[in-house]
Amino acid sequence: MTATTFLPFGTPLSPAAIRVMLLGSGELGKEVIIALQRLGVEVIAVDRYDHAPGQQLAHRSHTVSMTDREALKAVIEQERPHIVVPEIEAIATDLLVELEAAGVARVTPTARAAFLTMNREGIRRLAAETLGLPTSPYRFAASLDELRAAIDSHIGYPCIVKPVMSSSGKGQSRLDGPQDVERAWRYAQEGGRVGAGRVIVEGFVRFDYEITLLTVRSRGADGQDRTDFCAPIGHVQVDGDYVESWQPHPMAPKALERAREIAGKVTAELGGYGIFGVELFVAGEQVWFSEVSPRPHDTGMVTMITQAQNEFELHARAFLGLPVDASLRQPGASSVIYGGMEAGAVVFDGVAQALAEPGTDLRLFGKPESFAKRRMGVALATAETVDEARAKAKRVSAQVEPRRA
Ligand SMILES: Nc1ncnc2c1ncn2[C@@H]1O[C@H](COP(=O)(O)OP(=O)(O)OP(=O)(O)O)[C@@H](O)[C@H]1O
Ligand SMILES: [Mg+2]
Repeated sequence: MTATTFLPFGTPLSPAAIRVMLLGSGELGKEVIIALQRLGVEVIAVDRYDHAPGQQLAHRSHTVSMTDREALKAVIEQERPHIVVPEIEAIATDLLVELEAAGVARVTPTARAAFLTMNREGIRRLAAETLGLPTSPYRFAASLDELRAAIDSHIGYPCIVKPVMSSSGKGQSRLDGPQDVERAWRYAQEGGRVGAGRVIVEGFVRFDYEITLLTVRSRGADGQDRTDFCAPIGHVQVDGDYVESWQPHPMAPKALERAREIAGKVTAELGGYGIFGVELFVAGEQVWFSEVSPRPHDTGMVTMITQAQNEFELHARAFLGLPVDASLRQPGASSVIYGGMEAGAVVFDGVAQALAEPGTDLRLFGKPESFAKRRMGVALATAETVDEARAKAKRVSAQVEPRRA
C-alpha cells in the first residue's frame, strides 16, 4: 500500500479547499461536519432525504439513494471530493472500492473497511476465521431449512438471528426453541436491507456487560501511525437500538487488555485513518468480538461531554492527518430522546428546565420528521461518578418532550 499523503489545509469554496463528502448526514455526520467546518474544510453532505441534520450545515448537499451505484457515482463525479466519509452502512460500497482503487477519492478509513462491515458475513469471517478473534458461535443460512439445520447441528438455543445486511437491530430476534425459527426467519426477511434473504445465526452470549471500545488510527505527531483507545463505553440496548451509554465503564484489567488486543487487531486489518466503534461482549475476564463500525458510533455520542476530543473530532482529525488526543476528561452519560410519535416538524417542550441542572447538555438533531422510535436528540451529563451521570442524563431526556407543532 502506498503511504497516504495528507493535503494541506486550505480555504473552503476555493481551488485550495480540502473537499470532504459525507455519505449519510444524520446526527453522527452532523457532528463530523461541525468538526470539519472548524478546520476550514469544504463539506458536501449526502443523504437519502432532504434536510437531513448534516445537510443543514454543509457547504453543499445532495439527496440521493446511496445504494444506487449510478446515482452515487454521478454525485461523486460532480463534486470530486478528496475524501469520502461513509456515515452509514447502506452504501454501494463496491463502487467505493472501485473509485478508491482508481485514485478518484480516498475513502475513510478505507473502502475495503466500508465494504466488509456493511455485510455481517464479511466482517464476521474476517474477525473469526482470518484473525482468529473470539466471537459467538455462528453459521449463515439462505433458507428456512438451512437455518433450522444450522441451529440443530451447531448453534443450539438460545440463539439470535439477524439479516446479514441490517443495522439498529432491524430484523433481529432471539430464539428460545424450535417454535421460534419460522417467525425469526420471516422477521429477518422483512428487516434486511436488501432482499437477498441471507441471515446469520449466532449462539447467545451470556455476557455480564457489553462495551463500545472507540479505537482511533492516526498519524502521530512523530509521523508514525498509531492506535489509541478511548475509555470503554458501557451501554444499554433495547431491541437492538441504544438507549443509554456511559463512559468509562469499569473493567477488570485483564478484560480491558483483551478488549484492546481484539480492537487493535481488527482495526489494523481494516486499516486507514479514522475512528472505529468496536463492539465487544464481556463476561469476567473473557471478551468476545461482536462487530465493528469503521466510523463514529452512536453510543459514542457520550464523548461530546466526556472527552478532550469527542469521537467526531477524533475521526476528522485522524483522516485529515492530524494528531489526536483520545483521553477522558470526566465521567459522563448519554440518554436518547425519541420522537415518541409520527409527526412532521415537532416542538420540544421542557428544554430550559431540563438544562437547569449543572453539568448537563443537549443535542437536538433537527430531523424534519418524527417517528415513534426515531432518535431526535440526545441528553448528555457529566458528574463525579458514572452512576450519577446516568441518572442525570435520564432526568434531562425525560424532561425534553417532543410534541406536534
Ligand atoms: N450473539 C449475541 N449474544 C447476545 N446478545 C447479542 C448477540 N448478538 C447481538 N446481541 C445483542 O443485540 C445487540 C444488537 O446486535 P448487533 O450489534 O449485532 O446488531 P445491529 O443491528 O448491528 O445493531 P447496531 O447497528 O445498533 O449496532 C447487541 O448490542 C447485543 O446487546
Ligand atoms: Mg451493534
